[in-house]
Amino acid sequence: MNKILIVYASKSGTTEKCAYKLANILKLVDVVNLSSSKNIDLNNYKTIIIGGNIRMGLLSKKVKRFIKDNKLKLLNKNTAYYICCGLVENKEQYFQNNFPKDILEKAIIYDTFGGEIVLDKCSSFDKMIMKAISNSKNKLSIEINQKSIERFAKVIKESLN
Ligand SMILES: Cc1cc2nc3c(=O)[nH]c(=O)nc-3n(C[C@H](O)[C@H](O)[C@H](O)COP(=O)(O)O)c2cc1C
Repeated sequence: MNKILIVYASKSGTTEKCAYKLANILKLVDVVNLSSSKNIDLNNYKTIIIGGNIRMGLLSKKVKRFIKDNKLKLLNKNTAYYICCGLVENKEQYFQNNFPKDILEKAIIYDTFGGEIVLDKCSSFDKMIMKAISNSKNKLSIEINQKSIERFAKVIKESLN
């Protein structure tokens, strides 16, 4: 019952990569992709980490739905949330706009792990959107922030003691 679950949804693979980076640090973790698993039994876990990507300011619909459908259970667990996004300076805004207030209040930690631009997984429309949101003032971050992942993992580990 001390097992940790990481649930994520990822469009171009970065949120998935981060899920495994985090799992490698935490050990004894189950990692589940929301796009391929439908019935996840949360009762088997004391700690649940949820990761999602941001596109056009919005959190992945699958992650949003998962949180909505499991809200009561999540409020009674150790929970933590991460997002992958290019405009890391907008992180607080993305969390406040996309996650229920009580879910964030109850979280052990929530943070961004940065983001990546995977051009071969982007349609021409995606590229147009990215050009529109990335200008001289707002530059899309193009790397995963390993330090943030390590800090996040440390907080989770401390919460298990
Ligand atoms: C079409 C598109 C829209 C995006 N919109 C945003 C955005 O509004 N804000 C932001 O910070 N990052 C934005 N990004 C960057 C993504 O959040 C980043 O690429 C992230 O790593 C994607 O995660 P994933 O690979 O798990 O899908 C966008 C990327 C794409 C391709």
